Amino acid sequence: MGFSTDAIHAGNEPDPTTGAVSVPIYQTSTYVQPELGRHKGFEYARTQNPTRKALEENLAVLEKGAAARCFASGMAAISAVATFAKAGDHVLVSDNTYGGTFRLYTKILASQGIDFTFIDTRDLALVERSLRKNTRYVHLETPTNPMMSLCDIRRISDLAKSAGALVLVDNTFASPYFQRPIELGADLVVHSTTKFLNGHSDSVGGAVIAKTRELDEWIGFVQNSAGAILSPFDSWLVLRGVKTLAVRMERHESNGRAIAAFLDRHPKVKKVFYPGLPQHPQHDLAKKQMSGFGALISFELGSYENAKKLLDAVRICSLGESLGGVETLICHPATMTHASVPEEDRERLGITPGLVRVSVGIEDEEDLRDDLDRALATF
Ligand SMILES: Cc1ncc(COP(=O)(O)O)c(C=O)c1O
Repeated sequence: MGFSTDAIHAGNEPDPTTGAVSVPIYQTSTYVQPELGRHKGFEYARTQNPTRKALEENLAVLEKGAAARCFASGMAAISAVATFAKAGDHVLVSDNTYGGTFRLYTKILASQGIDFTFIDTRDLALVERSLRKNTRYVHLETPTNPMMSLCDIRRISDLAKSAGALVLVDNTFASPYFQRPIELGADLVVHSTTKFLNGHSDSVGGAVIAKTRELDEWIGFVQNSAGAILSPFDSWLVLRGVKTLAVRMERHESNGRAIAAFLDRHPKVKKVFYPGLPQHPQHDLAKKQMSGFGALISFELGSYENAKKLLDAVRICSLGESLGGVETLICHPATMTHASVPEEDRERLGITPGLVRVSVGIEDEEDLRDDLDRALATF
């Protein structure tokens, strides 16, 4: 099936009891068993829930994996994958991940004896040199948050495979509509479903999609044992959101391209980071491994004062953390999403006081342009 057909139908079987076209919200904690030793595949709702199962089947199909598991947040999903590494193991990580990933790895898991190395995964020779015998997995984020740099999923998967390491890709920014890491050789994909998959800024959740049943078995074991499951209502919200993923992503992207071009032309904007611009250093890689450039744009305004003036002046763009909603969200990475990254690391990565990130929504493009134009005129 095509992507849009799968997004609407995969996992979304009509309800067997009533024929309801929308998968019901199975708001139950347990299931009555007809006799001792026999049940209908559902025993206890932390372990199995039909609404969550429908979403998991849907996301496995969209990401071309063997199976998927949904979690209470994107961070819970990343935490589940991190259990592949045990004390004494090594994990290689893109140096410009979401700040929460950096915090989880450096402030919690490093103290449990896992060794994390953060490197520039754009540099393939550096990736190859940094892989060790005990590297359990390579954590890639592409495009990265917020610098919009890319890494080559196929080439890194080949390198990791030769070194016996798994490859995990955080595909939150691109969504499976624009990028499918498992098809490019990755073993595991994570999502913050909070973002484009749900798409309406009204649910927090996460997902892990595994390439093989064997990998999924462990993730399922962790999901049940640690218990950070996605609730039935949130599962339903994401199922509903995904049905329109294809049309939303098309509109997000056309608006994204237009806003990136507008910012690129504007004299007050010093630099624009967007893989769809021809001058982006990895524009060719973006064209190769993604089928669209997405709707996340970062841009440099030169100082904290300029960024503050713009962020205080916008009216249609909403100042807030998060991304991927139908509404345009704008933020200041250095003090918001990436505040947990040490200042010297932020500076090295380019997360300066003047950097602004915008998640372009699906409003009318002219209104977004006018809003930014007016806000840029305030300094
Ligand atoms: C790329 C990326 N991965 C993971 C997360 C974490 O997801 P959540 O906030 O759902 O825990 C975020 C959150 O912003 C993100 O941007």
